[in-house]
Amino acid sequence: MTKVAQEEIEEGQGIKCSITRRSFVKGTVLLAGAAVGGSLLNIPKALAGRGNVPITRYPIYVPPTVSPIGLTLRAAPATVNVGGRTASGWAYNGSSSVPPGPSVPGPTIRASTGTRSIITLVNGLPQETITHWHGMLVNTANDGQPPQAIQPDKTYDYDFTINQRAAMNWYHPHPHLHTGEQVARGLAGAFIVTDNEEGALGLPSGAYEVPLVVRDVSFDNAGNIDFNSGGGNNPMVNGTLNPYLDVDPALYRFRVLTGAQNRIFGLALLGALGNVAQFTLIGNDGGLLVNSVPLTRVDLSPGERADIIIDFRGLRGGSLMLKDLRTGWDLLEFRVRDITPITGTIPTALSTIETLTAPVAVTRSFKFEGMGKINGQEYVANRIDFTVPFGVVERWRFTTKGAAPHPVHIHGASFQVFSRTGGRGMVFPWERGWKDTVLLDDGETVDILIRFDAFRGDYLIHCHRLEHEDNGMMSTFSVVSVV
Ligand code: C2O
Ligand code: CU
Ligand code: CU
Repeated sequence: MTKVAQEEIEEGQGIKCSITRRSFVKGTVLLAGAAVGGSLLNIPKALAGRGNVPITRYPIYVPPTVSPIGLTLRAAPATVNVGGRTASGWAYNGSSSVPPGPSVPGPTIRASTGTRSIITLVNGLPQETITHWHGMLVNTANDGQPPQAIQPDKTYDYDFTINQRAAMNWYHPHPHLHTGEQVARGLAGAFIVTDNEEGALGLPSGAYEVPLVVRDVSFDNAGNIDFNSGGGNNPMVNGTLNPYLDVDPALYRFRVLTGAQNRIFGLALLGALGNVAQFTLIGNDGGLLVNSVPLTRVDLSPGERADIIIDFRGLRGGSLMLKDLRTGWDLLEFRVRDITPITGTIPTALSTIETLTAPVAVTRSFKFEGMGKINGQEYVANRIDFTVPFGVVERWRFTTKGAAPHPVHIHGASFQVFSRTGGRGMVFPWERGWKDTVLLDDGETVDILIRFDAFRGDYLIHCHRLEHEDNGMMSTFSVVSVV
C-alpha cells in the first residue's frame, strides 16, 4: 500500500474520507481499469462505509421470474429477509421459498408482447388494496385504479393482452389513501415486457440482466419495516440493506426503478476513490431510446425507470459502487470476479421512435399545488375532471405551486417530454423517448405531448410522491371518441 493510501485510511474518521480498508484496496485496482471514465467529482460522503466502521454487505435479492399467464399474486404481511436479518413487512407472494427466502420486491413478471395475462390478486392485507400495472397500457377494468380496490380476503381478476413495446414496467398497490403505506411496507414488483425488436439487439440477458428496485425504507424500534409518510432514512435495493452483487467482467443490463415513496435518487457509479465511472443508458419508462447514450449520472424520481448497461470488463478483481449523489448513500456494491473478461458490444442504434408533432398551443394545463391538489382540487373517486379525445396529440403543461418536486405520472398512454423551462431548464437524456412519469421540480414548467391511442375509458394523472397522491394530488379523466 502506498504512503498516501495509508494516510488516507488513517484520516478516515469522518465524512471526507469515510472509507473502508477493503474498498480502498479495491479502488486501487479499479483505477487501473479501462471502463472508468468521466471526471473526478468532489462529493462529500461519496466513499464507501460509514465512519471507519467497515460495513457488512449482503448478497442482493433477485426476485424469481414468473409468467403472467395464470399468475396468482397474494399481497399479505410476511417476514422478509432484508439482508442479514429478517423483518416483518408486506409482500407479494412473500412465502416464496426461493433463496434467500421470502423477500421483497415481488416476483418479476416477464412476458412478450402479445401475451394474454391472466392474473388473480388476492388481498391478504388488513386493509383494502388493488394492484396497478404502472406503464402497462390496459383498459380501465385492468388498470387497478382506486375505485376497483378490494376488501381483505377478496380477489380481483385481471385479464389483458400485452399490447405495447418492450419496457420495464412495474406493479404496485393503488388504493386511495393507502398507496404510500402499502408501497412503503414492501408491495412492488417489476413487470418486464419483451419484443422482437429488442430481442434482435442481443442485449445482456439471463444472469447478465438484473432488475434493481431502488428505494428508501424506515424501520420501527423492533427493526420491522415501518410506514412513515415522508419516507425512510435507509437505502434499500431489491429489499436488501447494504447489498452487493458478484459480477463477471462483462456487460450487464440493469433495469433500474425508483420504488421510493417520495425520494428522488441521483444515481452514479463511483470507484472507491470517488472516480466516476461511465455507464450507458439504453432505455427508460417506455422502453428503448433511439440511440444509446453514455452518461455518468441519471436522476430518477418515484415511478421512473432507467435501463442501463455497465461494462465491468476493465475491472477484473475490482469493484464499483452504485451511489445516490443526493444523499451520498452507497446503494449497491458490484464486486467483479477476477476471471477472463467476457466479450460483448453495446449497440448504438436501438430503436425507431415516432416523434409526436407538438400543437402550437397548450391543450391543457395542470398546476400541482402544495401537498395534495391539482388545479385546486383534491381527488374524489369516480369524479371525471376532464375528457380527452382518443387518438389526438395534445400538449399538456405542468406547473407547480409549492411543495415540489412532483413526479407527474399518467395512466393509459406513454408521452414525450417536449420542453422544460425554469428550474433545471432542459430535457435530460433519460427523458427522451417514451415516458410515463416526469419530474416537475421547483419553478419548472414542463410540456409533454400525449396521445391516447390504446383504449377509451377512465385514467388517472397524479403525483407519484405517494404522500401527495394519498393526499389527493390525483385526477381522473376520460378518453373518449372524437365525434
Ligand atoms: Cu405508479 Cu398511478 O401509479
Ligand atoms: Cu401508472
Ligand atoms: Cu407532488
